[in-house]
This record gives sequence, structure tokens and C-alpha cells, in this order.
Amino acid sequence: MADAKPQDSGAAEGNLAEEFAVPSQVEEVKSRMAEFAERHGAAGRRVVLITSGGTKVPLESRTVRFLDNFSSGRRGASSAEYFLDSGYAVIFLHRHRSLYPYTRLYSGINLLDALTVEPAEDRSARVSVDQSALPNIAATLKRYQAVKSSGLLLPVEFSTLSEYLHLLKAAAQALSSIGSKAMFYLAAAVSDFYIPASEMPEHKIQSSNGPLQISMKMVPKMLSPLVRDWAPGAFIISFKLETDSSILLERARRALDTYRHQAVVANVLDTRRGYVVVVTCHAQHELQLSDEDALNNVEIEERIVSNLEAAHRAFMLQG
Ligand code: PMT
Repeated sequence: MADAKPQDSGAAEGNLAEEFAVPSQVEEVKSRMAEFAERHGAAGRRVVLITSGGTKVPLESRTVRFLDNFSSGRRGASSAEYFLDSGYAVIFLHRHRSLYPYTRLYSGINLLDALTVEPAEDRSARVSVDQSALPNIAATLKRYQAVKSSGLLLPVEFSTLSEYLHLLKAAAQALSSIGSKAMFYLAAAVSDFYIPASEMPEHKIQSSNGPLQISMKMVPKMLSPLVRDWAPGAFIISFKLETDSSILLERARRALDTYRHQAVVANVLDTRRGYVVVVTCHAQHELQLSDEDALNNVEIEERIVSNLEAAHRAFMLQG
């Protein structure tokens, strides 16, 4: 994940279809997102587009190998729950098989260990849940079902970098009708490097050819056309991840100066679950979990969402 650099938004947009194959489902998904945004906007609700998880960059056209990154999608999935609790409708643009709202709470548990069958030998037997193996399952299930039945969560999946880029653009266009009621919360860890289709080998790279050297091109920064052209009226939050805490805030400020969006959530890989800084052009808010918070299972995303929800409200009043 490289540093923010100024990019020409026209070039980024122009090259998108040329350099990154357009996924077949993009128009259909765009209409669903547009209908979702209009419906909730008309009901006076704010809509947040959350991006979540890593992106996969293929090394061969008939892909055997690809480059991936660490992101689990936990930040995006847990934030989605807090945005729903705060009254937002949520479009959850997430990497296939990354963590998902509500089910993420049980991701480390083998479901079969939490179920029992009674009586064991009867084919019409009832399956029941051992609630101690799935903590808070009844409350979580009720929350999930309420969100589902009120149509407040629209999940959209991507796997590859190309899919991510085109779906983000489609989402921005779909949300344009609700102006400042839209928030973009770009928590996905997007690759900065890719191999253009024209330079990619078709077949599996042969190890018999010896050590592999690959040359990758820079992925255009989507923040640039997003802020300037695709969603100029929206409230846009990017994330900045570093492994070296000494450069974090300077990089976050630089991103803000370059793209001129509303806020950057700055975090360091090793401490990202307990400490972030929300950087805006006028201020910076440190959000930190105490030992007591950790004991009470408080999550940093609750604090991030609460901070941004208030800032979004103020932004809408200014507009
Ligand atoms: O998923 P988890 O394991 O819970 O981890 C959460 C997280 C660490 C992934 C998350 O908190 C986070 O920091 N996400 C952003 C990581 C990242 O890609 O940082 P970056 O500094 O490389 O990119 C900065 C911003 O530019 C990002 O908001 C990204 O959406 C945007 N970007 C990146 C590449 C690109 N081509 N275009 C972009 O617009």
C-alpha cells in the first residue's frame, strides 16, 4: 500500500475500462444500489457505502497465483453493524469470504461443535444450539433478522481488484442522487500494484523457468475521481494504514491535502484494533480503547462510527 500521490482523475477514469476488465454484473448491481439509495434517501435515511477486505491481484490470466494482502474485513464488518445501529442504511462492498456483519462474531467457531441432534438416531430429529458455544446468539440473530427484514443492508461482493474498482465507481454513481446524505467509508485494503492484462501470461507461470521477477504498474488512486467527479457532494472518509507509526499522521495529512475529502482514519497495522486517529482539515481526534473497554468487549469501530456520524451530521447542515 503505497503513499498518496496526486493523479489525474481523467486519466484514472479513462483508463479504468481499458486497463481493468469490466465485470459482467456491474450494471445490474448499479441499478440495485441506485434503487436502494433512492428508497432510503426518500425515507430521510443516510446511506453509507462501506468497502471492506483485501483485493486479489492475479499474476496469470487463467489464474493459479495471485497477490493478496492481510485485511480480514473485520473493520468493515463491525463498522457496518454500528452504522446500522446509528440509523444508516448500509451498502457493504466486501471481498468474497471476508468477515461479514453479525456472522463475523462467530467466525472462529466451528458451527458443528455448537449444535446437537436429539434424538441422535431419528431422521426427523431436532437440531438445537448450545448457546454457551455461540455467545449472545439469540440477541445477534434478532438484530440480524431485523436488519434483513427492513432491507437496511445491501451486500455486494468483489474478489479481484478490477471488480472492486468498477463496483466502487458504480456505487458512487448510484449514490449521487442523495448528495450529502451519502457517506463513503473506504476501509478496504486496496492493492496499489497490478499487472495489466496485456502484460500478463495466459497460462500458469512455469517454475522450471527459474526464479520469478515481476514488474507491476501503479493502480490509479480512486480517491481522486471519487472526490472530484463521481461523488462531489458526498461525505468521504478514506483510511491510511502504515506499519511505521512515526510517519502515519504526516501521510494522513498529505492524503487529505491531496484529495481534499472530509477525513482520514489513520491506523498502524499492529495497534489497529485499539487505537486510531481521525484526521480532518481542522482537527485530529485520537480514539483509544482502555484496558477496561477491552475487558468489556468494546470495539474501536463503535468510537469511529460515533465520531464520523456526528461529523457527517454537521457536514449536511453546512451544505
Ligand atoms: O480488515 P481489517 O483486518 O480489520 O483491517 C482494517 C484495515 C487496516 C485494512 C483498515 O483499517 C485500513 O486501514 N484500510 C485502508 C488500508 C489501505 O489501503 O491504506 P492505504 O494507505 O494504502 O490507502 C489509503 C486509501 O486510498 C484507502 O482508503 C484506499 O481506499 C484508497 N485507495 C487505495 C488504492 C487505490 N488504488 N485507490 C484508492 O483510492
